[in-house]
Amino acid sequence: MVAKIISGKEVAKQIREELKAEVEKLKETHDVEPGLVTILVGENPASVSYVTAKQKTAHELGFHSVQDNQPENMTEHDLLALIEMYNKDPKIHGILVQLPLPKHINENKVLYAIDPKKDVDGFHPVNVGKLMIGEPDYLPCTPAGIQQLLVRSGAQIEGAEVVVVGRSNIVGKPIANILLQKAEGANATVTICHTRTKDMAFHTRRADILIVAAGRPKAITADMVKEGVVVIDVGVNRIGKTPEGKAKLCGDVDFEAVKEKASMITPVPGGVGPMTITMLMMNTVRAAKLAAEAA
Ligand code: GUN
Repeated sequence: MVAKIISGKEVAKQIREELKAEVEKLKETHDVEPGLVTILVGENPASVSYVTAKQKTAHELGFHSVQDNQPENMTEHDLLALIEMYNKDPKIHGILVQLPLPKHINENKVLYAIDPKKDVDGFHPVNVGKLMIGEPDYLPCTPAGIQQLLVRSGAQIEGAEVVVVGRSNIVGKPIANILLQKAEGANATVTICHTRTKDMAFHTRRADILIVAAGRPKAITADMVKEGVVVIDVGVNRIGKTPEGKAKLCGDVDFEAVKEKASMITPVPGGVGPMTITMLMMNTVRAAKLAAEAA
């Protein structure tokens, strides 16, 4: 079997078109523009490029978007005060503090300060807890994007054996919880593997859907998967440069070999990556809608 390639670029484009229409409708019915602020402390080059991409997409969708750049030496106290200001700003529906933060600032303290209703990253413990008890509000963006990729590609999720490799708070744990829910696009049987798992291949070979966020290039090889598996590769590993000087990327899955056995597989780049920003936009539109309806 040679796999169908799941294009995150295409699915993200489709969702953005849907969001554009929703934004127009929200303007007409409630005179509200979804408002997103991205707060960047310092000038970490990767963070600058992520935040720029988020703002560009927000502009394209017709959001009220604010990029708030702060100096590297900003105090924790001042950052908390800034968040409080945006918590109270009725034009802002989503607050995103780009991570990582400088070492002198306590990341959790900052994330906990964001109003859970404006937590479009889905990182606040209230939103993490809501997902855990089956009443999700804002889902973290990368796992939400993975679920959309699976649903929109027609993967059979209900009853499937899903194996997740990686137990991070940003991907592994939340995607396991999302697909475990008693809900449409979920109802899977989920196993999480991690660095202390005894026999990784024993688990991955059983997977109908394999989601890999291991942070290690080619951690999953063809002998570790079964024929017909659906593979979602969350890995982004930099492995040198292209002739044009751009970063050359590869995933956590040996794509060329595994695609010969899988029924569907995401590429890197162009798989999960494009979905993350799109889901941030989806969360922001939802936050704006809920705020407008509550007003
Ligand atoms: N840094 C890398 N990924 C993310 C993300 O999804 N959200 C935030 N806030 N910071 C990040």
